[in-house]
Amino acid sequence: MKVACLTGGGDCPALNAVIRAVVRTIENAGGETIGFLEGWRGAINGDWVTLKAMDTDEILPKGGTILGSSRTNPYKDPTLVEKILANFKGLGLDALVAIGGDDTLGVASKLYSDYKFNTIGVPKTIDNDLSSTDFTFGFDTCLNTVMDAVDKLRTTAESHRRVMVVECMGRHAGWITCFSGIANSADSIMVPEQVTMLDDVCDLLKRRRAAGKKYGIVMVSEGAEIKYRDESGNVKTLDVTQSGKKDDFGHIQLGGIGKQVAELIKYKTGIETREVVLGHLQRGGSPSAYDRVLGTRLGIHAGRLALKKDFGKMVALRCIKIVSVPLSEAVGQMRTIPPEFMDEASEFLR
Ligand code: F6P
Repeated sequence: MKVACLTGGGDCPALNAVIRAVVRTIENAGGETIGFLEGWRGAINGDWVTLKAMDTDEILPKGGTILGSSRTNPYKDPTLVEKILANFKGLGLDALVAIGGDDTLGVASKLYSDYKFNTIGVPKTIDNDLSSTDFTFGFDTCLNTVMDAVDKLRTTAESHRRVMVVECMGRHAGWITCFSGIANSADSIMVPEQVTMLDDVCDLLKRRRAAGKKYGIVMVSEGAEIKYRDESGNVKTLDVTQSGKKDDFGHIQLGGIGKQVAELIKYKTGIETREVVLGHLQRGGSPSAYDRVLGTRLGIHAGRLALKKDFGKMVALRCIKIVSVPLSEAVGQMRTIPPEFMDEASEFLR
């Protein structure tokens, strides 16, 4: 059996754990693996490398992806899909393991439904916003990175009696902000899933200060829905878009809300306030033990699905088991935070 794998979309820690496990599982069964470079771009252009178990054994602790990644969408142009089909045939491939988020897996799902193309999906993203799997690998490492950063910000915030506004990634789902907000005992957690009235947060920060807490930690999702009252009492909504720029899949670039929140807090409370945008730091670094194990398990099961010729599936974590689900059911539905998480967090946010 000859299997190709590729990594698409925003990178995250433990992509290499998956690649290593796919390669090992296929090689153990006497098969061979190649890797397309830079996501679907490599599958279109026929850019690939041979992957051997011996050569990939050391990549487990390495962040990012040894194959490179891109947000290339072959469905933007029908001739690109034809190129993928031709390369697949030309290279004598039996299966393609696509490791990615909703966009990458959406392409894999469409290739399967349109052409019965032998695809298998592995869910990844720091955003943890994929349906059909309990957790995506990369999320845990990201949380630890945010937790570590905010632990450091806390000491300087405390020394200077400041409020620190920390902007987190996650697009239109607040998993990173909610979980790291809980892990960092934040004073406020602002997520896209629920509307935050900034004036209420300002009142809370003032109350806490009056009660003796001389600093504040405010966690804000890049896609948070935040309203405030202007000087005339009109309710306004903060803008979450950094620029009008869209990627190949039509996603608008988010960012910049943390600065607006910090300015408004400073203006409305008089408390010295600073903002920190954690940005791509959240996607970097060596994977945590949890992500190494999850990525490895998902990679093994993706390899096994390929060996069984069970295509059009995505491997997923359900409780403690790795299962497979139809790709078509797994894509196209963003999973936001179930309300109970923010409800639990709210005990500490009042
Ligand atoms: O989906 C992962 C993610 O890191 C999002 O949280 C973020 O909005 C986006 O990717 C950033 O993308 P880029 O790396 O293209 O700026």
